[in-house]
Amino acid sequence: MNGLARSEQSAVRRIIIAGNWKMYKTQAEALEFLQAFLPQLSETPESRKVVLCAPFTTLSSLSKTLHGSRVRVGAQNIHWAKEGAFTGEISGAMLTEIGVRYVVVGHSERRQYFGETDETVNQRLLAAQSFGLLPILCVGESKQQRDAGETEAVISRQLERGLVGADQTNLVIAYEPIWAIGTGDTCAAEEANRVIGLIRSQLKDTDVPIQYGGSVKPENIDEIMAQPEIDGALVGGASLEAESFARIVNYQS
Ligand code: 13P
Repeated sequence: MNGLARSEQSAVRRIIIAGNWKMYKTQAEALEFLQAFLPQLSETPESRKVVLCAPFTTLSSLSKTLHGSRVRVGAQNIHWAKEGAFTGEISGAMLTEIGVRYVVVGHSERRQYFGETDETVNQRLLAAQSFGLLPILCVGESKQQRDAGETEAVISRQLERGLVGADQTNLVIAYEPIWAIGTGDTCAAEEANRVIGLIRSQLKDTDVPIQYGGSVKPENIDEIMAQPEIDGALVGGASLEAESFARIVNYQS
């Protein structure tokens, strides 16, 4: 850490607003979303990157439709091997071939329901980087861990193990407190700012874009983005409707 608070640094903030559609939207629904969403980006400042992390089956047509637009396509998972007998998994080459640029790794739903560990998350992250994809590494504590005063320790461990061997200049981090995901119970903007500041202090490259995720909505995005440490948002439920995601992308600064 260079000792200066983020607000005193001259570094240019790289803003990335990403939707995480999780297991929502067929191909037809994804294209219908774009028809309503794209026209609402005409006033969006160029400096804001917009990403849609969509189900595998929609990625190819999203990527074709978005060719030449400012919206980038992201996947929600990647396997670490180049290819092999890994039923149900997707490789980096399969993603880059169809124009995918970002990939979410270590989302708490994958850690919780699909047995992801810091070690497998790290392998997926390294694979993403080796294929030239930008990984969005998700970290965050549970309610129980927060109540036990373990937030800092949990996040610190997830970062340390998740980032072994990583290129920190080719990375996005999302702070997603598990208790705030899909609950409507957003983390207070100042608290998200504080934790994200701690995350930043643990990184070699303090310019890594760090997003907040967890019940981000049109009603709270302006306050979230007013925080100096927060470089964007990873949005679940509120990214499914074109109107609502457009309002988030077009937050007032
Ligand atoms: P919600 O915005 O629905 O709370 O989901 C957040 C999330 O998990 C994004 O990855």
